[in-house]
Amino acid sequence: MFSIAVIFTCVILTIFIRFIFHVRKQYNFWNEKGVPSTKPIFFFGHLKDFIFGKRHLAFILDDAYKAFPDARYVGIYDILKPNLIIKDPELVGNILIKDFSHFHDRVPASSNSHRLNHHIARLPGKSWNLIRSKLNPTFSTIKLKSMFDLMESFSDTLDSYVKDYVTSNKFIDAKEVMGKYTTDVIGNCIFGLEFDALKDMNSKYWDISQKVFAITPKSIAWTILRSVNPILLNDNIIASNMYIFYSAGFDTPSTTLSYCLYDLALHPEIQERVRAEIMKVLEANNGILTYDSLNDLVYTEMVLSETLRIHNPGSSFRRLCTKTYPIPNSSLVLKPGDRLTIPVYSIHHDEKNFPNPSKFDPERFSEENKKKIKPYTYLAFGDGPRICIANKFAMMEMKICLKTLLKKYKFSPCSKTEIPLEINPRATQAQFPPKNGVWLKVSEI
Ligand code: HEM
Repeated sequence: MFSIAVIFTCVILTIFIRFIFHVRKQYNFWNEKGVPSTKPIFFFGHLKDFIFGKRHLAFILDDAYKAFPDARYVGIYDILKPNLIIKDPELVGNILIKDFSHFHDRVPASSNSHRLNHHIARLPGKSWNLIRSKLNPTFSTIKLKSMFDLMESFSDTLDSYVKDYVTSNKFIDAKEVMGKYTTDVIGNCIFGLEFDALKDMNSKYWDISQKVFAITPKSIAWTILRSVNPILLNDNIIASNMYIFYSAGFDTPSTTLSYCLYDLALHPEIQERVRAEIMKVLEANNGILTYDSLNDLVYTEMVLSETLRIHNPGSSFRRLCTKTYPIPNSSLVLKPGDRLTIPVYSIHHDEKNFPNPSKFDPERFSEENKKKIKPYTYLAFGDGPRICIANKFAMMEMKICLKTLLKKYKFSPCSKTEIPLEINPRATQAQFPPKNGVWLKVSEI
């Protein structure tokens, strides 16, 4: 009996000691390759505060980014897995575009076999290429033109929703109202369904939207798909792509719009200029916004671009190396399976790329100044063949929404407005949401 206990203890001790050696060896990976890296925390690597929901991943990546100001890249550890953070814009361009054939995949999800992980954003190589070419026409100019009217059809509902807040003199949570609006838009334009998030206090789709990143993907898509077409339930690829269109399609524009209203509330002179532009475009088109006149909302687009620079919902995105890649002008050679991260938040907030980076300054995106932006330093929608498939759809949706709101209402800070906004540390990499909502005062002009 005694000897069994001794043997058992020895086995456990051996496993434990081997584990410690394994972790130590792993944490030497970047040192051995001569890549700058800050000290990892045993077992957690650099992700401890992210795992425990204390800090958003963007800020953890930003610490690594800033720790070596002149480095072209820095190494971190995702728990035990090495992850290379790319800082040099030229190298970002190589990875996303020029040498895309080495980096066409994203890092696989931890549960890659899950039936809802077979979507365009996760699929590798050839399967991704096939699905992307099948889904690209969803956002062609002809399709966008037809979606324009569908989007516009929510303007009256949005207007009466906001009017209720003005009449009752209540502060409005821009995050909530924008979430309801984009839930309705995605439901109608992509699923062909009335989600009624703005009209119906008990809309089950708004309920899903609120939980979309908190509950398991399975329960969301099952609920959606049951309403769409039961036959689809057998097809993992269709189900997965509907799931990604729903989750990406509702959250990113709603977060951007709520930050935009926040920035406009804090900068009334910029808000006034956007409103003046909207009124001018409406006047020139008999009081209505047309698909073609969207292009005339030049300043509005500058404001949205600056909002996306400061508060990009895709605060970072990843690539997987699939073919050996010697980094140009460096001795580092990437091997298949190596992970890379493009730290969008840090690149957008780097003084070298955008002077005075925390200042909300839409002029950075004027026709003249836009040309001066260093290539691959503005990555709001990513870049290269895997760029956001719906970037034009999102810009159209956001412009229509701002037109509806700003032509009648004025947004200003109130006693509940948090300045600066705290970011929810429990969000995923593809989200950058305010923790406590975006509370504003809304009044009629
Ligand atoms: C303001 C709104 C949006 C922002 C800021 C945004 C941002 C992004 C970013 C940064 C990426 C990764 C690009 C890369 O890896 O190079 C991405 C990919 C993607 N986005 Fe968006 N997005 C937005 C709206 C939308 C909407 C409305 C939809 C769907 C209706 C959507 C669907 C997708 C999909 C499917 C991908 C994966 C594309 C692929 O891997 O081929 N996004 N988006």
